[in-house]
Order: sequence, then structure tokens, then C-alpha cells
Amino acid sequence: MASEASVGQGHFIFDGCDTVELAKEYGTPLYVVSETAIRERLREVRLSFLEKYPGSYAVYASKAFQTLEMCRIVQSEGLGLDVVSGGELFAAQRSGFPLDRVIFHGNSKTPSELRMAVELGVGRVVVDNLDELAELDRVSLEFGRRTKILFRITPGVDSHTHEFVSTGRIDSKFGIPLDRRVRDSYVGAALSMRGIELLGFHFHVGSQLLENESHLKAVEIAISFMAEVKKAYGFETAELNLGGGFGVRYTDADKPKGLAYFTDEMMAAVTEGCRSLGLALPRIGIEPGRWIVGEAGITLYTVGSVKEIPYVRTYVGIDGGLPDNPRPALYGARHEACIANKYACEPSRRVTIAGKCCESGDILIRDIDLPEMEAGDILAVFTTGAYNHSMASNYNRLPRPAVVMTSKGKTRLSVRRETFEDLVAREL
Ligand code: LLP
Repeated sequence: MASEASVGQGHFIFDGCDTVELAKEYGTPLYVVSETAIRERLREVRLSFLEKYPGSYAVYASKAFQTLEMCRIVQSEGLGLDVVSGGELFAAQRSGFPLDRVIFHGNSKTPSELRMAVELGVGRVVVDNLDELAELDRVSLEFGRRTKILFRITPGVDSHTHEFVSTGRIDSKFGIPLDRRVRDSYVGAALSMRGIELLGFHFHVGSQLLENESHLKAVEIAISFMAEVKKAYGFETAELNLGGGFGVRYTDADKPKGLAYFTDEMMAAVTEGCRSLGLALPRIGIEPGRWIVGEAGITLYTVGSVKEIPYVRTYVGIDGGLPDNPRPALYGARHEACIANKYACEPSRRVTIAGKCCESGDILIRDIDLPEMEAGDILAVFTTGAYNHSMASNYNRLPRPAVVMTSKGKTRLSVRRETFEDLVAREL
């Protein structure tokens, strides 16, 4: 939950805005995203990383939450953008984002996405496999360009997070395993290509990590890999991107330690590792996504029903669920929540919040203690800023919610609610 949440007249106030009024004005389900909280995080990236480590760079992983407005906010705070598809790249361009500050990711980029990246002149392509490398070289030569790349490496670190968001371990669809034969075929090939300029390497060990041990392990592995590559090819790594994955608070059980807990210790490890192996210090980049927007967002729902199954449980039905927040169903994610119009009331009942999909797995929050509830109450679910709007679907033909941005008591519609007409607009 954003730090600026507070109580006002028994209503839940978020970033200076009465959430009950927001629900009335814009309807529910509604994503409410605090620009104040996002800017605070972006500034922290600047102060505790970019300014502390001159020459470093940070890109926002826009898969966490991408709107045209979000791209503009990121740009205004001086960060770059990580995109992972033609669609995200298109939106970045449409928002006016400087494309030389865009990093293009993905384990299965299509030839047309690669062409788009080269044509638009993105700052870096993070290459995942040899087929992509060959295609990128070909397209770059066709445009008379030399595309700057990083190789995504798989450091073989098993991070402590849900299996589906763990990406750095050796059996992973992402990146290049650091096996010598593989290393030779990739690095050797890239260095011989005229359309490719190899700058260095990238890793991303996983998401929603609250401890820095896998990041530190990955740094160690990446540095010794850099030393091997230098020895084998005389190639001095100019850039090393440490990815994202910095965890946020969903429930009391999560105790995030802050960005510097990750970045300071990784920077110390990079400096020490390079010194001891006689390597020049590369330019370091990071790619936080969830850490920037996760706690800046909440979702408002209207309660439709309260159904008690005696001695079993009480189901509270709401007007959204899995299509606007698939994380509980996909990853067993847990959220905290409040009744926005009864914020001053004490919890008195244990309930289960049920989404409206025809899917018994569509349970948004199992067993949460809340005040007495009735139809018409407004439920506010916390920490939904990341991987909610961007992962939303139209399952059961539910229109996707609107996004309202808040800024210290001011609100504005940023993305309008989908209509039933939108739902059939593509059908011929
Ligand atoms: N860089 C790369 C290459 C990534 O693959 C990701 C996330 C990030 C940066 C940003 O990670 P973050 O800082 O947000 O943890 N849908 C899942 C999360 C998938 C993350 C995918 N990659 C979820 O809702 O938990």
C-alpha cells in the first residue's frame, strides 16, 4: 500500500483521494495508481543508484504496468524503458519515449519485432539465442546499422520465488547457459558479425525477491564469466545489466529491505570481483518493474453479495477478479484489503473474496478478516500496481477496468474502461 494512505471520515484515503468517491465517479472495478508513489520510487532510483554510481543506468521494466502516461512519467524522471514485445515498443514510441533509451528483451522475438527494433533504433537488444542473433545481424546490415547488444546469460541461480517467476536457473527458457561450448558459439559469432556490436551481458534472476543472495550469486558468476571471455577472446565487457526482481510488500509477511539493499551490495560485489580478476569496471544497469509500481496501485471493487455457508466459510462476491488480477490464481499470490467505506471499523468476520468468473479457482483473497460487509460496500485491494493491468484479460467477456491516476488529492482518468462494443470490435 502506498505510504500516503490514511483515514478520512471513515473512508479509505489514498494519495489524498477518497476512494469511495473514486468508485462513485469512475465505477468499479477500478485500478487506482498513485503518480505520487511512482515518482517517489523513480526518484529513489535516481538518488540511491544513478547519482551514487556515476555512469550507471536504470530502465523501468514496463511489462509491470505500461500505459502511455506511465512511459511519460518514467521519461520525465530520467530512466530508460525495458520493452519485451512489438506492442510495448509501439506504445513507447507512441508516448514519445526516446527510443535510444529503450532496451528490447524477449526469448522469442519475431523477425518483424527485430526489424521494428532496428528500424526504430532502440538503444540495446538483449539477445537470447543464436537464431535471433543471426536474424538481427541480417536486418541490421540491411538497414546499414550496427545494433548494440547484450547477451542474456543464465547464471544458474535458483531464486527463492514462485517457480513461474524464477528465471535465472540453468533449466530456463530464458538466456544462454554458461557452458563453454555454448559460450564459444555465441560470443565467437557475435564478435564476427558486422551488424552486431556486443557490449556485454545481462541477467535477471527472478521476480519478487526479498533477499539479495541470488542477485549476489549471479553477480559472482557473471564476473567470472566476463573474465573467461576476456581470456578467450580479449573481449572486455563494457556493460553488465543486473536485471530487476526487487520485492515489494504484499502482506505483513513480506519485509522488503529497500532498493539500496540490492544495488549497494551488488555494486560492491561487481567492484571487488572486477578488481580481483583484473577487469575494467563495466557500465552497470538495473531493470526494476514491480518495485516501481507494485505498491503504488490499488484496485477498487463493489461487493455484490455476502453468502454464508454455515460452519464452512462466507463468500463475498465482487464485480471483478481473475481477469483483472490473475496473480492469486496463477501464483497463489496473497493480497491485503480493506472496506473503503468502513475504513475506521474493526475487522469482525473472516471472509473469502470470490471473483465473478465461472472458475472455482477465481478466489481473489482466501480467509481475510474484515468488518461486517454488505452488498454495495467498496473493497480496496492493495499492491495491485504491478502485473495486474498489464496481465488483464477479457475472460468471460469482462471489460477491462479503467485506470485512474492520483496525485496528492487530484485524480484523472488515464485509461478509459473497456466497453461491450470494444469486446466485439475486432470480430468480422
Ligand atoms: N528484466 C527482465 C528481463 C524481466 O524478465 C523482468 C520481469 C524484469 C526485468 C522486471 O522484474 P521485476 O522487477 O518486476 O520483478 N507476472 C509475474 C512477474 C513476471 C516477471 C517477468 N520478468 C508476477 O506477476 O509476479
